[in-house]
Amino acid sequence: MKIYFASGNSHKRVELAQILPAHDVVIPKDEGIAFDPEETEPTFYGNALIKARALYEIVRKPVIADDSGICVDALGGAPGVLSARYGSKPGEPLLDAESRNRLLLAAMREKPNRSCRFVCNMVLYYGPDRFVSVQETIEGTLIEEGRGLGGFGYDPVVFIPELGKTVAELSPEEKNEVSHRGKAARKIAIFLDSLNHEST
Ligand code: IMP
Repeated sequence: MKIYFASGNSHKRVELAQILPAHDVVIPKDEGIAFDPEETEPTFYGNALIKARALYEIVRKPVIADDSGICVDALGGAPGVLSARYGSKPGEPLLDAESRNRLLLAAMREKPNRSCRFVCNMVLYYGPDRFVSVQETIEGTLIEEGRGLGGFGYDPVVFIPELGKTVAELSPEEKNEVSHRGKAARKIAIFLDSLNHEST
């Protein structure tokens, strides 16, 4: 079954598609749909719902959306919902991931508490005012210097103590097994399956 994913991020799409092998995960640009809703809410949940609702209004078919980011305890939870825009000025193009990581590590100099987590809120939206929301995390610590070539975004700077690797050093399968998005997507997959058996 085709499932729309309200995202422009092809890395996220690949991760989601791995968890939903029975589905054809389609993002708006695959179908030439211009899609860039403003993410105005202060929570991952609020922004995921904005994206899900916005795409549902266009396609009128079940939609998955996610809003995610990194929350650093020593920075009061920042960059949080602003993770994609960290270090960028309003109205200017976003910094690339490498520059954002450099900035984040610079902001962490001298800070003894390096604990952080990735958070993902994922919404399955399947009718006007009908939706499921799941929020998941993966706990890590910020290392001093990025390591690894896999994944995307902040993956090279987040070390997972239990695995002894940064997220960027995990294979795609290993990342999906433990990640905020992987855990959320597996739960959403259960609801998606139940939706397919529902008649109304
Ligand atoms: P969103 O598209 O508004 O959800 O922005 C999410 C941003 O958070 C991304 O651009 C990344 O910078 C960061 N992010 C979210 N999930 C991950 C991940 O799995 N690895 C690394 N960075 C992530």
